Amino acid sequence: MLTSLMEINIALPKRDVTDRAKLFNTSLQEARIWGADYLDSLQEHSKWKLAHSYNVAVLSYRIATEVFSYSSSEAEMFMEAGIVHDIGCLDVSEDIINKDSVLSYDEFELQKIHVEGTLKRLPDTEKYTNMAKVIRGHHQFRNDPYPALTDEEEGLDKSSRLFMDRKILALADQVEALMASKQSSRPYKEPSTPEETIRLLTHARDGSKTEYFTPEEAKMAAELGQDFFDQEAL
Ligand SMILES: [Fe+2]
Ligand SMILES: [Fe+2]
Repeated sequence: MLTSLMEINIALPKRDVTDRAKLFNTSLQEARIWGADYLDSLQEHSKWKLAHSYNVAVLSYRIATEVFSYSSSEAEMFMEAGIVHDIGCLDVSEDIINKDSVLSYDEFELQKIHVEGTLKRLPDTEKYTNMAKVIRGHHQFRNDPYPALTDEEEGLDKSSRLFMDRKILALADQVEALMASKQSSRPYKEPSTPEETIRLLTHARDGSKTEYFTPEEAKMAAELGQDFFDQEAL
């Protein structure tokens, strides 16, 4: 287990990720200016949330640039958004956050408050107002979306930047949860193969097709996820 979030720097692999590593470290410093206490507390609170947060940060940046053709500067904000997106888990009991088996219905309902928990901790400035809109969506591109979509979120133009940003962070969070090693996810869960990941991103539990992600987006994200988890992830 990481003893300090700064140790994530050391874990970065030797392959050609220098620019991403630099960007991650810059974003981590930005997050620590206002959120150091939250990040340190989260590390105490959860066995795997920091590794998950690192993975979502880098994976969302890669999905933005490699799947959705964002420029590096357009995708930069995903690094900090990924690092802090689950700090609201501090409001969820350690028993639930660290549970080594499937959550019950009631436990799952209780952990949903973590999204609002993150939003209330973000600084009250323009930069974080936009980031809050993106983070608020990270569990909304799924069959049982939460928090419930506002009228404004329901009405978002699907070609708008905000809609795409929200979709990218949600996609990265789901790919991380599905494909991650046991270091950043619940120990009872085996990592999904790319094929399973594609199916789960595009189908509901009853087998019907969903439209949150196109088959192409799911395929590209799952392939990128495999590359990421083979070489770069924690
Ligand atoms: Fe979350
Ligand atoms: Fe997450």
